[in-house]
Amino acid sequence: MKKNLILDVDTGVDDAFAILFAARHPEINLLGITCVDGNTNLENVIANTLKTLDAAGAGDIPVARGATRPLIDEPRYAEFVHGSDGLLDMGIPPSKRVLDPRPAVELIRDLIEGAAGPVTLIPLAPLTNIALFLRAFPDTAAKLERIVLMGGSASAGNATATAEFNIWHDPEAAAIVFSSGIPITMYGLDVFTRLQLTHDHGTELKSREHECSQFSGELIQRFVKQFTALADQSEITLGDYGAVATAIAPHLVTMERYRVVVDTTFGPNRGQTVCDRRTFADSAQDSIHSNAPSVDVVMDLDVDAITEMWMRTITQ
Ligand code: BDR
Ligand code: CA
Repeated sequence: MKKNLILDVDTGVDDAFAILFAARHPEINLLGITCVDGNTNLENVIANTLKTLDAAGAGDIPVARGATRPLIDEPRYAEFVHGSDGLLDMGIPPSKRVLDPRPAVELIRDLIEGAAGPVTLIPLAPLTNIALFLRAFPDTAAKLERIVLMGGSASAGNATATAEFNIWHDPEAAAIVFSSGIPITMYGLDVFTRLQLTHDHGTELKSREHECSQFSGELIQRFVKQFTALADQSEITLGDYGAVATAIAPHLVTMERYRVVVDTTFGPNRGQTVCDRRTFADSAQDSIHSNAPSVDVVMDLDVDAITEMWMRTITQ
């Protein structure tokens, strides 16, 4: 049976890698996509998402408008990584696809209520839309099979020394999602950069005829150029795609179960996902972690198999 997925995105180069895969993989039923600000502003995110669906050759997948900013903090974008339009300024004309008229939280509700089987929600972005959905429609949210999210870290951060960008962008929203009681898989920075591509992958894709391969090849080569300039680094990551791969092929990853607390204080660790990796903890002395939700955290993965699955899906 196909797996029913809903994506929540801030497209973003690696969100685009994830959307291309989810729209084309034969075992995925992509029910819909909701957009939120994050890597760039919401208007850019929507435009990039629709263009990516065009490149994927996707059918009529509903795409909805979500939050324009985090619950409390001001938005802080990552355009220095993803380009001024969030998709490396490829110059692709606007899509003719029409946005779904429903707000993101209503689209998520309707897709879950109308689905023929269980639904997995895959946030690849700050968790603002998902927190609002959980608060607006808790009974529908309880029907979710699982949330598999890209975000957080059991080790180092990227936006700050300890916080990963998606969680740091809206820590209050993340705290609501992590404490929701819905089973959560966290695909975070512990594995995020492990799925690597080079300029040669782009060349291989651009040698193929169809639009999805051409688009992907161009995006990869622009991202390589960006990272070479930013960090003198010639490999780029498939990033957010790894969370989608985890949802459909959990046998290709290794998870550890940790109790996780999202730091919502205003100190240097704001936005950190504090994972309890102790082998022995005296719960009498630690009421914070002993009452925290247990989360399945991806700590290792079959790099070759997951990378090959993406290349195969994009080119077939
Ligand atoms: C995450 O932040 C964004 O830049 C990426 O799209 C990814 O979702 C990595 O921290
Ligand atoms: Ca993202």
